[in-house]
Amino acid sequence: MSSRIPAITLHNGGKMPMVGLGTYKSRDDEIRQALNVALECGYRHIDTATVYENEVEIGDVLHEWLSSGRIAREELFVVTKLPMTGNRYKDVGRFLQDSLDKLRLSYVDLYLIHSPVGMKEHSKGEFDLDTNHEEIYKAMEEQVDAGKAKAIGLSNFNSKQIEKILKVCRIKPANLQVEVHVYHQQKDLRELCRGFDISICAYCPLGAPYMAKGSDECPILLQHPLVTSMAKRLGRTPAQVLLRFLIQNNMPVIPRSTNQKRLKENFKVFDFELCAEDMASLEALDRKGAGRIVDFKSLFEGIENHPEWPFNIPF
Ligand SMILES: NC(=O)c1ccc[n+]([C@@H]2O[C@H](COP(=O)([O-])OP(=O)(O)OC[C@H]3O[C@@H](n4cnc5c(N)ncnc54)[C@H](OP(=O)(O)O)[C@@H]3O)[C@@H](O)[C@H]2O)c1
Repeated sequence: MSSRIPAITLHNGGKMPMVGLGTYKSRDDEIRQALNVALECGYRHIDTATVYENEVEIGDVLHEWLSSGRIAREELFVVTKLPMTGNRYKDVGRFLQDSLDKLRLSYVDLYLIHSPVGMKEHSKGEFDLDTNHEEIYKAMEEQVDAGKAKAIGLSNFNSKQIEKILKVCRIKPANLQVEVHVYHQQKDLRELCRGFDISICAYCPLGAPYMAKGSDECPILLQHPLVTSMAKRLGRTPAQVLLRFLIQNNMPVIPRSTNQKRLKENFKVFDFELCAEDMASLEALDRKGAGRIVDFKSLFEGIENHPEWPFNIPF
């Protein structure tokens, strides 16, 4: 099955399928059901994180599929992330092992530092102002050495933070997971990563409709007239058009859904293509920095004062 899903090849040779299942906010029975449907549809790339608090449920479902022989471990591409509360050299191994235990796996295909910002553990939101990326990254590399992560990477890091890691790393980041959608196309960051052979995975590929604040000037992305009219003309849905745009820009996407119909819809994006003209008109909707939805300020009060908050430079 996996060989039939288009994928990008990471610099370690790993194949990251172009469509993965996003799982933020998907919990309990909802994620169990969604993951079963997704695996039946053909999804093989799963994106989770310690902070999503769903690794146990994901692990249970994967175990059922793996132990019954319905799927082989090599077909899956499982991604999880080091939480902000684990952003210290000494904590990385313990957090990854905890994720592996919950996921019931001996390795993940990709382990990401979820955020460049560190938080103290058990502190109810107190920031750790001593976050040291070089040290954390060294511990990430040790996870590859130990066979617990096939590849390692970053999430929400800006250009300067990436360049700093590249100066000291022994094992290059294989992937950067950042917010990318039609309103926030991240062209400069993509260009930088291309130069270093760091692939990009697009989070919030549908423009996070549950979070975005639509306005007359800037409607919710899924409802933008250009997107809806293009979808209608092509006999597709707005979500399929938005995902296809990113895929044709060579970025794996991880749309989240727990709805059976939408899970299927989001995976059915390999049987059509956007023409150059449609690609150009979607490209013109880029709002650059103004199109960013996730800056973590509403989730973590005062995060913009952390020395490593990434969004205080253009990219
Ligand atoms: N690294 C990070 O810091 C970070 C940050 C944010 C997200 N992520 C990852 O990226 C994933 C995706 O981002 P996201 O969940 O924030 O946003 P998203 O995928 O852009 O949007 C998800 C929302 O869109 C709805 N939806 C899904 N498919 C749809 C369709 N075909 N038509 C209409 N609505 C649809 C979903 O509702 P239904 O469930 O009702 O379909 C859900 O409310 C996350 O789940 C997570 O795995 C990572």
